[in-house]
Amino acid sequence: MIMKFDETILTGDRPTGPLHLGHYVGSLLNRVALQDKYKQYVMIADLQALTDNADNPQKVHDNVLEVMLDYLSVGIDPLKTTFFIQSMIPEISELTMLYLNLVTVNRLQRNPTVKAEMKQKRYEESVPAGFLIYPVSQAADIMIVKGTIVPVGEDQLPMIEQTNEITRSFNRIYGVDLFPQAKALVSKTGRLPGIDGKAKMSKSLGNAIFLSDDVDMLKKKIMSMYTDPGHLRVEDPGQVEGNMVFEYLDVFDLDKEKVAELKHQYRKGGLGDVKLKKYLFEVLNGILEPIRTKRLELSENKKEVLDILLEGTNQVRQVAKKTMKEVREVMHLNYI
Ligand code: TRP
Repeated sequence: MIMKFDETILTGDRPTGPLHLGHYVGSLLNRVALQDKYKQYVMIADLQALTDNADNPQKVHDNVLEVMLDYLSVGIDPLKTTFFIQSMIPEISELTMLYLNLVTVNRLQRNPTVKAEMKQKRYEESVPAGFLIYPVSQAADIMIVKGTIVPVGEDQLPMIEQTNEITRSFNRIYGVDLFPQAKALVSKTGRLPGIDGKAKMSKSLGNAIFLSDDVDMLKKKIMSMYTDPGHLRVEDPGQVEGNMVFEYLDVFDLDKEKVAELKHQYRKGGLGDVKLKKYLFEVLNGILEPIRTKRLELSENKKEVLDILLEGTNQVRQVAKKTMKEVREVMHLNYI
């Protein structure tokens, strides 16, 4: 039996590229599981994507569909989850404008995630104002549907904290209990390292395996994975720690005994990287093949996919209008 509790999930992604295995273990699998338990909204954050891609709207536009294909092909089900697109909910922008009066510039400049991103993008003094305030618009994303659970990665915790500061101020100043507190739900899996073993998997670092990669690309990427640079000949003992093939097997292979056996052999010497990588390929391809097939099928019906997004957006629009009506009332903006 499907049990839905009285909590609302709001989560989402910036459409700046197709989704990869890091997203799969970090958030997509979670969403598939959570949709049976809670009312779940998944938002495509195209406005947030534009805060650092204003010069490339085509990229953002094209990736909206790619991300939708990824969502649907992993099994986030439009009958259980409501998908919507941020830019088509004008109430989010309206609420952002009102929230902006409840946060100081100083506080915005102290958000550790925004700070880190600014550094990475070398914005220095030239940070777009829209980028600096995106945590406020993220608060509005969550609160437009009165979200209470936000499944996120560690790096998003400051956003939830800032959301709760803003809504606490709102409720206090206007003497209401309009917005709930949001709880972060941090994924247990943690971050998946990239195939280069250097950092977490990310499109910009070029170390990602995408859900949309074809078989040859998957094979190629696995064959190029970082293992143990000291493991030169098959008979040499090899190191398992920090070896990406084993890191991935730990995450993806359900046959833990087999993994333990492979580790033992590798440490002892006598297990070559090529053989080991071929095994990882079998495991990963077993997971990715059905996703790939479904993705291909869906991509032949782009109109249908877009309709799912628009249909969900329409539903959210109704919820958003109701929230803004309440906000306007308590803020004395109710002229009609
Ligand atoms: N900031 C998130 C990211 O970079 C995307 C996002 C936008 C989001 N609005 C959100 C996530 C609301 C959770 C809730 O991936």
